[in-house]
Amino acid sequence: MDKVTIFGAGHVGATTAFYLSLSLNVEVALVDVEEGRARGLALDIEQSLQYTGSCSRLEGGADPGAVAESDLVIITAGHPRLPGMSRLDLTGRNAPIVTSIARETARWAPGAVVVVVTNPVDEMTYLTWKAGSFPERVIMGMAGVLDTSRFFCFLHRMAERPASDVEAMVLGTHGDDMVPLVDWSRAGGEPLGESVDPDTLAEVVERTRGGGAEIVSHLKSGSAYFAPAVSIGVMALAILGDTGEVLPVSAFLDGQYGISGIFLGVPARLGRGGVTEIVELPLSDGERRMLGRAAEGVRKRVCDLPDDFLR
Ligand code: LAC
Repeated sequence: MDKVTIFGAGHVGATTAFYLSLSLNVEVALVDVEEGRARGLALDIEQSLQYTGSCSRLEGGADPGAVAESDLVIITAGHPRLPGMSRLDLTGRNAPIVTSIARETARWAPGAVVVVVTNPVDEMTYLTWKAGSFPERVIMGMAGVLDTSRFFCFLHRMAERPASDVEAMVLGTHGDDMVPLVDWSRAGGEPLGESVDPDTLAEVVERTRGGGAEIVSHLKSGSAYFAPAVSIGVMALAILGDTGEVLPVSAFLDGQYGISGIFLGVPARLGRGGVTEIVELPLSDGERRMLGRAAEGVRKRVCDLPDDFLR
C-alpha cells in the first residue's frame, strides 16, 4: 500500500484525507500540531470506510516523524486567509511552518514526492524546495488544477459551455497574476474568444481570479476546502498511479517558457517521479507576456524571503 502523509488537519487536510481514502487503498498519516484533532479525524475517516469497499488505513498525531517512508507528502498546514487578506499576507506566518515541515520531510522521507498547498503557494513551494534541499522535480505546488476547475465551473454556469465541450487551463500564480488561458483554450473546438461573448468571457476570467476570495468572503472564518481537496486528489492519483497525466501545477522552470529558477503554474506531466516533463503549449504572445509578468512577481517575492528560512 502506498503511504501518503498530510501535514495539517484543517479543513483542506482532513477533506483531502477523506477523498484519498475513498479513492484509493492507501495508508494515510494525518499530522497536526493539534494532536487530538489529527487523531480524532483519522479515526472518524477510517470508521467511515467500512461500507465503501476501501481498505485504506489512517493514523493521526502530532509527531512529524510519522512521515517516514511516505511515497507522497501533502503540505496543507498553515494559517488560512480571512476576509480582506490576500494570499501574500500569509507569507510571514506560514513560512516558518512550511520550513520546519520541509526539513522533517527531507530527514524522514527523502524519497517522497511533495505537493505544497499552503499559501502563498508558489512562494511556499520554492521555500519547501530550498529548505529541504530536494531535487526540483519531486516538489510541486497545487493551484492550477483548482483554478482550472473554477474556470470550467464558471464557463459552464455563466457561458453555458459544459466541461465536456471545453479544453482550458489556468497557469501563472495562484493570485493576482493568475493566467486563465483565453487564446489557447477552446470551447466546441473554437477559441474561447470566438465561442463565448467577450463581456461574459471577461466576467468568467475575473470571477476565476477571485474565486478563492469569493468563498472567503462568504465563509468569513476560513477558505475553500472541497474544491482544493479534490484538486489535490487529482494530482495524487496521477502521481501514485504514474499516469503521465498533464495537469497545471506550480513546477520548477529551467528555461521553459523563457523562465528559470522559480516555481510557477505551468502544464506538467505527473508520475511517481513527480514532475516528469514540463509541457510547452503554443501560447499567444499576450499569454506569454502575462506568464512572464507572473514569473517576475514570484521571483521578486522569493528573493524577499528571509534567509533564515532558506538555509
Ligand atoms: C483558494 C485557496 C486554496 O483558492 O487558495 O481557495
